[in-house]
Amino acid sequence: TLQQNHHSPLSSALAEEENMGNVKKQLSKLFAVSLREMLPPQLNAEPLVASCVPKFGDYQCNNAMSLFSKLKGTNSNYQNPLAVGQAIQKNLPFSEMIESSSVIKPGFVNVFLSNKWMAEYIQKMLVNGIESWAPKLSVKRAVVDFSSPNIAKELHVGHLRSTIIGDSLARMLEFSNVEVLRRNHVGDWGTQFGMLIEFLFEKFPNIEDVNESAIGDLQAFYKESKKRFDIDSEFKERAQQAVVRLQGGEPKYRHAWKQICDISRREFDMVYQRLRVQLEEKGESFYNPYIPGVLEALTQQRLVEESEGASVIFIEGYDVPLIVVKSDGGYNYASTDLAALWYRLNEEKAEWIIYVTDAGQNQHFEMVFKAAKLAGWLPSADNLYPKVTHVGFGVLKGEDGKRFRTRSTEVVRLVDLLDEAKKRSKTALVERGKGEEWTEDELEQTAEAIGYGAVKYADLKNNRMTDYIFNFDQMLNDKGNTAVYLLYAHARICSIIRKSGRDIEELKNTAKLVLDHPDERFLALHLLRFSETVEEACINLLPSAICEYLYSLSEYFTKFYSNCQVVGSTEETSRLLLCEATALVMRKCFFLLGIVPVYKI
Ligand code: ARG
Repeated sequence: TLQQNHHSPLSSALAEEENMGNVKKQLSKLFAVSLREMLPPQLNAEPLVASCVPKFGDYQCNNAMSLFSKLKGTNSNYQNPLAVGQAIQKNLPFSEMIESSSVIKPGFVNVFLSNKWMAEYIQKMLVNGIESWAPKLSVKRAVVDFSSPNIAKELHVGHLRSTIIGDSLARMLEFSNVEVLRRNHVGDWGTQFGMLIEFLFEKFPNIEDVNESAIGDLQAFYKESKKRFDIDSEFKERAQQAVVRLQGGEPKYRHAWKQICDISRREFDMVYQRLRVQLEEKGESFYNPYIPGVLEALTQQRLVEESEGASVIFIEGYDVPLIVVKSDGGYNYASTDLAALWYRLNEEKAEWIIYVTDAGQNQHFEMVFKAAKLAGWLPSADNLYPKVTHVGFGVLKGEDGKRFRTRSTEVVRLVDLLDEAKKRSKTALVERGKGEEWTEDELEQTAEAIGYGAVKYADLKNNRMTDYIFNFDQMLNDKGNTAVYLLYAHARICSIIRKSGRDIEELKNTAKLVLDHPDERFLALHLLRFSETVEEACINLLPSAICEYLYSLSEYFTKFYSNCQVVGSTEETSRLLLCEATALVMRKCFFLLGIVPVYKI
């Protein structure tokens, strides 16, 4: 049933401008027209369009099967799903996009895109820039709450995962026209500060003496004071009073608190700078003034109850309630998160609030979210906005399969880990003779891009829920699914273009892209799936989908390049355009993953 595409006139529903980039959506609109045409007025259906196995088409419409049973109840007489598929095919409006369509059992409608349309679509992107392929999400403003380490405690690999995943999610959403508030919800409030401040006073009776170098290693300071806290009950009591005085706003205590926070902050910033991650800090302390009002409102709604001296919210399906005021009268992690959620919804007017932490915090967020639904802050259906999502992730493991630690069983410090990655990638570059070939600056920058890129990519390529094993040798391998391999692939494309001696910017407007060879077409088809891939990755909050796409892209390119001569062939200019389009899309993928591209190798 192969049929050339010459159906009813172009529908007005096909507004070219909106979602220009998303090919699947453009096709869905054509199928939506067809479904409206062929269905009796009492039935309607959202088009179900998916990519297809290459043998049958580029995309397929899957509506016929489920529609068949629905249509049975009406007086339209279709013999089988295949007949429904044929009706869908017959009513497809004419479009330049489609070369041909076919219907196969049980009722799939397959389409091949037109080569000419595909070539023009890619050439338009070359001229207008990759931003013209940016998805347009319906969400206007989102909060991504990520990284969020605790002051004076270790910035450990769990926070590294949160930082890398959260930054990538923020980049994906920003690219998709969402305004993102990148929130660092640092743990800068809580009982541990009483202990730290009291210990600080003890060590430095003269408060002027306190500075970064005096305190030295803040984590060691934390450990020391914790030891004291655990064995000395008199100290413990003073520490507990210190919390009250700090929270009451006594200047001396506020000042000491601020100094401790500043020292930690400088250390965090070092890591953020290296990773090129932007964050805006609104720590737990920021929400403290909002807690009483929020709890008051929840109490008025009769959601807060007294239980064993604490104030709690009972939530269906959980054995333990959510504690919002501890029995000692203090607020906790949950009270802060309720106030933060209230603030983000009402003051910041975020429509989507995304929390990136290890999967171990899942129950905490589930309970906070359910409480917010009970209070009517959020719609109860998950597909309505405003919406909250906890993006959990698995544990980072060492080679031994246990939680990732260094030999001394200490948690690995992030800075050391990044240093090591850079050092190793530099060594590999020197072994390749780049020490002589490049300036020291180039060597440093490339080593950094590759080393940090490798760490990020090794994390992002996994489905985030799976635990993964941290292995330098594997992530720095130049073969296989690694950042090194991908960065090299990109650099190689750039060098093909450079070596051609052509002015690629000029070619974008003067040369014409043509897709004749099958491997050119496979590569092009994958390129034009970029927009829908990013859109779906945003909706599912899965940076791994971008990694998968990027890796296949480089495989399609390799296949194309080994079967199609570029420089010196009669198709040279067209093929150079295809190279440039691939490089552009690869770079945008790197960007979305927070990886700095490399242009020569
Ligand atoms: N500081 C917490 C931790 O290190 C993470 C905070 C996550 N964000 C939040 N809104 N609770 O575990």
